Amino acid sequence: MSSNRRTLVILGASGDLTARLLLPGLGQLLASQPDLQIDLIGVGGVPMTDAVWRRRVTSSFKAGAASGARLTALIASSRYFEADATNPDELEKIFAACTGIPALYFALPPAVTEKVCATLSKMKLPSGLVLALEKPFGTDLPSARALNRLLATFIPERQVHRVDHFLGKSTVLNILGLRFANRLFEQSWNASNIERVEISYDESLGLEGRAGYYDHAGALIDMIQSHLLQVLAAIAMEPPSTLDSDDLRGAMAQALRATRIWQGKAAAGSRRARYTAGTIDGKKLGAYLKEPGVDAARGTETLAELVLSVDNWRWAGVPFVLRSGKALEDSRKDIVITFRPVPHLPTGMTGTSVPTQLRISLDPHMMHLDLNINGEGDPFSLDNVTLSATFADSTMGAYGEVLEGILRGDPTLSVRGDVAEECWRIVTPVLAAWHRDAVAMETYPAGSAGPRSWKRLPIG
Ligand code: BG6
Repeated sequence: MSSNRRTLVILGASGDLTARLLLPGLGQLLASQPDLQIDLIGVGGVPMTDAVWRRRVTSSFKAGAASGARLTALIASSRYFEADATNPDELEKIFAACTGIPALYFALPPAVTEKVCATLSKMKLPSGLVLALEKPFGTDLPSARALNRLLATFIPERQVHRVDHFLGKSTVLNILGLRFANRLFEQSWNASNIERVEISYDESLGLEGRAGYYDHAGALIDMIQSHLLQVLAAIAMEPPSTLDSDDLRGAMAQALRATRIWQGKAAAGSRRARYTAGTIDGKKLGAYLKEPGVDAARGTETLAELVLSVDNWRWAGVPFVLRSGKALEDSRKDIVITFRPVPHLPTGMTGTSVPTQLRISLDPHMMHLDLNINGEGDPFSLDNVTLSATFADSTMGAYGEVLEGILRGDPTLSVRGDVAEECWRIVTPVLAAWHRDAVAMETYPAGSAGPRSWKRLPIG
C-alpha cells in the first residue's frame, strides 16, 4: 500500500448524496489538485456492475464540471462492490482491494453508520485509516456520545472527520478573513456594539423525495443542529492564534460550549412550522404531509427558528437568531449583524438613521455594509447607503473543500467529537419542548415567507 496514495471508499455509493454532492466535489478537487493520488471504490447494498458505476461517476464529474485525463484514468480504475459493510469479512475484502490508505466515507443513515463502526471496532484495521462520517452524527445527544466513545476505542480523533459541508463554504471561510484581517470589525465585534445576530438559511426547495431521511430529522436537526451552529461558532469564537485545526476547532468549541437557548426557556425561544400546499416560482407544490413517505405522526417541522445566547464576556445579552426552512418564498441565506445605535446623534441632524448592518450572504457569496452618510443637498440630513463586495469563489464547491481535508488527513474543516456533542446539547431542550407539544406546530403555504403571524421572536 503506497503511503501517499489514498483510496476513497464510499459506503452508500448508490445513493443520492454520492451522485449529487460527493462525486462532483471529488471531481473538482482532483481537477484542481494534481498532486493528490486517489483511487475510488464504491460500496452499496444494490447490485451494480463496474461499468454502470463508472458511468455514474462520469456523469457526476460532468455535473461538477470536472474533466481531464486524470479523472478519466480514475474512472477507468474505479470499482464497485455490492457488500454489507456491517459484515467484517466483506469489509476485509474491500480493504484488500485498496491500493492506497483507505478513507472510508459513510454516506449512510446514522443507524447503519453506528453498526459499521461497531464492526470496525472489532477488526484489525489498515494503518492510517481515515473515517468520514456524514451528518447527522448520531440521532440525539446520547447516541452521539455513544458513537464518540466507540470511535475512541479504535481510531485516533484526528483520523475521524465528521462532515459538515458548511465548513467548506467559501462565505463561511470568508468570515475568518473579514473578522480577523480587518481591525475595523474585530474591535467592535462584541455585545457593547452589536445588538443582535441573525443567521438564516431559507430554501425554496421542498422535500425532493428525501422523506426517508428528512421526515426523521426535520429542519432543526437537518440544518440548525449541524450547519447553522457551525456558522454561529465562526461568528462568535475568540480570535484563534493560528488556523491550525487545534486552534480553530478549539476556539469554535469554546464558543459553542457557551451557547444555550435564550434564558434557558426552550418553548419561548423557539418556533416551528410546516408547509402546506402552495406555489413556488410559478410551480405548484403539494403539502408536506401529502409527500410520499411522510408520516404525520412524526410531527416533523419544515421551518425552525431558535434564539440562542452565547453566555460569555463578549456576547452576554446578544440574541443569536437561527432560522432555516424549506419551500419558502424568498430564499434568504445570510448572516445579519445589527450594530447598536450610536450613543448620541448630533442635534440638528435630520433624516433617518438606520442601524449599521453587516450582511454576509451565503448565496450569492457577497457582503453588504449598510451605513448612514450625509445625503444630497442638505448636508445635515442623513441618507442610507450600502457598500457591497463579492467574495471570490473558491475553485471548488464546499464538498471539494471538505474532501480535501479528508484525503490530506487535515481535520481543520471537519467537526470535532466534542463539538458534535455540544451541538446536540444545545438543541436537546428544544427537541424536548417540541416533543411535549409546548410549542405549537404552525403552518405556512409553500412559497410564502413563513407563517403570517411570525414577526420577530419576542426576546425578553
Ligand atoms: C444539507 C441538508 O445538509 O444541506 C439539505 O440535508 C439542505 O436539506 C442542504 O438543502 C443545504 O446546503 P446547500 O449547500 O445545498 O445549499
